[in-house]
Amino acid sequence: MKWTKKVLTFLLVVGFVTPVSLSGVTAEESSETEAKEDLPDVSILATGGTIAGSAEENTDTTGYDAGSLAVQTLIDAVPEMEEIADVSGEQIANVGSPNVTNDTLLKLGKRINELFDSGEADGVVVTHGTDTLEETAYFLNLVVDSDKPVIVVGAMRPATAMSADGPMNLYNSVLLAGHEKSKGQGVLVSLNDRIGAARYITKTNTTVMDTFKSQEQGYLGAIIGGTPYFYNEVTRKHTSETAFDISELDSLPQVDIIYGYQNDTSYMYEAAVENDAEGIVVAGSGNGSMSSVSAEAASEATEEGVHVVRSSRVGSGTVSQRDGLTSDSLNPQKARILLMLALTETDDADVIQSYYNQY
Ligand code: SIN
Repeated sequence: MKWTKKVLTFLLVVGFVTPVSLSGVTAEESSETEAKEDLPDVSILATGGTIAGSAEENTDTTGYDAGSLAVQTLIDAVPEMEEIADVSGEQIANVGSPNVTNDTLLKLGKRINELFDSGEADGVVVTHGTDTLEETAYFLNLVVDSDKPVIVVGAMRPATAMSADGPMNLYNSVLLAGHEKSKGQGVLVSLNDRIGAARYITKTNTTVMDTFKSQEQGYLGAIIGGTPYFYNEVTRKHTSETAFDISELDSLPQVDIIYGYQNDTSYMYEAAVENDAEGIVVAGSGNGSMSSVSAEAASEATEEGVHVVRSSRVGSGTVSQRDGLTSDSLNPQKARILLMLALTETDDADVIQSYYNQY
């Protein structure tokens, strides 16, 4: 019998034969493989945090160990990611984010550049504790030398909690990491269905889920029903446009943050100088203002060769430029990240200020 196309189609439709090709692979299997090949390669680099946290009770949302679950456990919990990306995981660290160090930052930045340079990844997701997430996100925003998407994600509820937010945040981040529209936007932060820019976003509340905000500049967009919608763009330079190259670095210069308050003292500045800090970021009051005592201590530190940058403890707004270095609208913790990187490139205060104006 000659198996004409018509007969084969009929038998397939009535279910008498299964669609087996000459190689023994079913049509279903081969179309699944083709679909998989079309999916973006997304690497998940895990560092710990509440997203990898587990508690004894599912009602416990505060007393738990951040950074106790391994990356594969996070991936296995969201099998739906297989439909949108070819996902792989790596454990960079597994700590609460206050324990993320400069070494972790360098390891992460170098690994991301390697994954992009080698073509192994089309996008990267970094899982991270929320407490210092914005610092890592801004660091990566300045050192990833690619327009490919990098998304930094966390969760406010541990993985064991009722209504844990980690799985959906992770799914959304993988979606963003593989999405055309995320390219060239700088490093993104995604929690709670929002898309934020590493440059602008900050944690604003100690415990609630809707904690990451971009008060002045707004979010870049949102993810609605599995589709990312972008409404804003970052106007500051980032990723492949920046001056910073970490490929040959084994460490970053020590930069400390000193808080300004009534009746503050000079000995924090003296301690920073004695301990070889190369930079100090002042979290000043209001528009970066400082008491006479701290201004005097800061100018003595400057005479010792320490670069002092004024920022504000207020949480939003730009510190206006006057004498000395100012952080533009970067909060103290992000101003520290930029100063560390700036000092790997230059000792010239004018150049450092130009970085604050550009990035
Ligand atoms: C942390 O930052 O590691 C703990 C808090 C969190 O992830 O929400």
